[in-house]
Amino acid sequence: MAQLQLNNVNKTFQRKTGEAVHVLNNINLTVEEGEVIGIIGTNGAGKSTLLNALTGSIQIDTGEILLADKPIQGLDQVEIAKYIGRVFQDPSMGTAPRMTVFENLMLAKKRGTIRGFSKSLTDENYQQMQDFVQKFYLNLEDRLDIPIENLSGGQRQIISLLMATMQRPDLLLLDEHTAALDPRTAKQVMETTQEMVREQQLTTLMITHHLQDALTYSDRIILMHHGQIIKIYDQETIQTLSSGDLYQYMEDLII
Ligand SMILES: Nc1ncnc2c1ncn2[C@@H]1O[C@H](COP(=O)(O)OP(=O)(O)OP(=O)(O)O)[C@@H](O)[C@H]1O
Ligand SMILES: [Mg+2]
Repeated sequence: MAQLQLNNVNKTFQRKTGEAVHVLNNINLTVEEGEVIGIIGTNGAGKSTLLNALTGSIQIDTGEILLADKPIQGLDQVEIAKYIGRVFQDPSMGTAPRMTVFENLMLAKKRGTIRGFSKSLTDENYQQMQDFVQKFYLNLEDRLDIPIENLSGGQRQIISLLMATMQRPDLLLLDEHTAALDPRTAKQVMETTQEMVREQQLTTLMITHHLQDALTYSDRIILMHHGQIIKIYDQETIQTLSSGDLYQYMEDLII
């Protein structure tokens, strides 16, 4: 069964100049359960807009989006957030900065509902979160009491990942989630991501400009340009490609 299906999805934005930009141009995509799809493409290709359409932060003009066979286009963001987890490029997004790491994790556990939230801040839950975080060998278990804004960018991205995946989402969306990190931390976050995705067999869409990461971690790669999916590389093809090949292909598109 397909976990995600996009049928003829279109979205046009109106620029201030009045010019219409077709940002999602007849997108068709089927993603199987547990598949990891890398999304690459030039700046402005429509990659983030595609994820925004999935999470309901923009409404599509025409087309159909099915998540686990149910249409989700038209649902509001809060509703969709129950099924889709998302991690952004900016480590400060997707978390409540002034709240502690523990409070943020508990919010995620309650899927963002404030009702009964303060009652959930018990010693028992604290212990549970410490055990949970310990699994990832990040020495975060002693830092659950500090405001999340005081963590390093890498630590925040790991916590964001934990929050996005805690309730096993039907779909995980990663939008350049390692792009703001130094190379060593980026690698560590990418490896932790792979561990979490594998452990829960999460269906994942991952936007990245790191072509090697796309090749290493994806089952399939889609290449977007000017609002279209212009190429889909399957696993067999990926095995034969280098990041240089992908780079060259993208370079040729721009010229
Ligand atoms: N809310 C919006 N209103 C108007 N135009 C928008 C809006 N969001 C995105 N766009 C435009 O849509 C196009 C695609 O943007 P998008 O952010 O999806 O690109 P991207 O592929 O994610 O690029 P990047 O690699 O730079 O992140 C761009 O031309 C952008 O200016
Ligand atoms: Mg983007």
